[in-house]
Amino acid sequence: MTSVRHRSINPMTGWWRVALLVATLGLSLLTGCDNSDLNPLGYNKGYTPVQPISYSHKIHAGDLKMDCKYCHFGSEKSKKAGIPPVSVCMNCHKTVRTESPQIQLLADFYKKGEPVPWVRVHNLPDFVSFDHSRHVNKGVACQTCHGPIQEMAEVKQFASLSMGWCVNCHRDYTRNPPPDLKAKHIFATTDCTGCHQ
Ligand code: HEC
Ligand code: HEC
Ligand code: HEC
Ligand code: HEC
Ligand code: HEC
Repeated sequence: MTSVRHRSINPMTGWWRVALLVATLGLSLLTGCDNSDLNPLGYNKGYTPVQPISYSHKIHAGDLKMDCKYCHFGSEKSKKAGIPPVSVCMNCHKTVRTESPQIQLLADFYKKGEPVPWVRVHNLPDFVSFDHSRHVNKGVACQTCHGPIQEMAEVKQFASLSMGWCVNCHRDYTRNPPPDLKAKHIFATTDCTGCHQ
């Protein structure tokens, strides 16, 4: 799906990558460089890009109460929650609001067989491995990480997606899980290799 930005193909993976990053991080601390320049990804809290079609979660997930997984059907099964193909939208919009210019734009993509060029909001660096299913199947709600999406007319990045954000939750949920997850025997890794493979 083109909505998922292609990551650069990098032969450096695993520990070498992390070792290099540690070295770069150390070097930039020594030289007093602002390390955030090295890795602007993952620190875009509040990021709200303009989308090619004014799709609203507030209408669909809020007012119409559609289940997140109707569209993001990868979230229980795979690493990616995924962005739905136009055909999912057309299940309704072949007949719903066809007079709307926005829906006509949507229908054009459908007729041409082209995906909508949605702009990606969340984007971790490629040396971090994140898996939706591991979280969703243990009962962590989408909103814990993405905020009140069902109230958003435009998706906004809610959390920092920093390493501290991940590690703090892993530590807290393992030591003292929220009441609704107590029975799930949570053990979330804080090992470097758990998130950097
Ligand atoms: C009718 C289909 C549909 C439903 C239902 C839906 N979404 Fe989405 N979602 C989309 C589309 C299309 C996009 C891409 C456009 C955008 O970002 O607004 C998207 C984008 C997102 C993003 C941002 C992805 C990125 O680029 O980083 C998140 C997070 C998200 N949805 C979470 C949710 C959650 C949580 C729910 C349930 C409360 C939900 N969605 C319900 C269709 C849907
Ligand atoms: C389950 C049916 C359903 C699905 C699936 C669905 N929609 Fe909708 N959508 C609606 C309804 C109903 C409305 C009108 C809500 C209203 O006017 O109160 C609407 C409204 C809209 C509007 C606003 C139209 C306007 O001009 O007022 C847009 C844009 C839109 N949808 C885009 C999408 C996209 C993109 C997808 C796929 C990611 C999608 N919809 C999937 C039912 C659906
Ligand atoms: C533990 C935190 C967490 C939970 C829970 C979570 N997400 Fe995400 N989500 C993320 C992160 C982090 C990313 C960025 C992943 C990346 O860049 O590789 C992301 C990315 C996304 C994207 C962009 C496309 C993709 O698959 O990468 C969508 C859509 C999305 N999430 C929807 C959902 C939905 C729907 C749920 C609930 C069923 C959910 N998320 C639960 C943290 C979470
Ligand atoms: C809101 C809390 C929360 C946040 C935030 C969070 N996680 Fe998790 N994570 C969990 C839970 C709970 C599990 C499931 C642990 C289990 O299976 O018992 C988990 C599991 C994982 C696993 C599977 C390995 C394991 O320990 O089972 C990886 C990898 C992972 N998370 C990476 C990340 C990354 C990377 C981020 C940040 C981008 C992140 N997580 C953010 C709560 C969180
Ligand atoms: C729970 C997941 C998780 C664990 C465990 C984890 N990291 Fe990370 N790490 C991330 C995420 C997400 C990022 C990207 C965001 C950022 O830079 O804060 C990252 C970024 C980094 C960076 C790049 C920093 C920068 O500013 O560019 C280094 C170096 C790093 N991690 C090393 C480690 C080491 C060493 C360990 C073990 C002590 C570790 N990580 C454990 C999730 C994790």
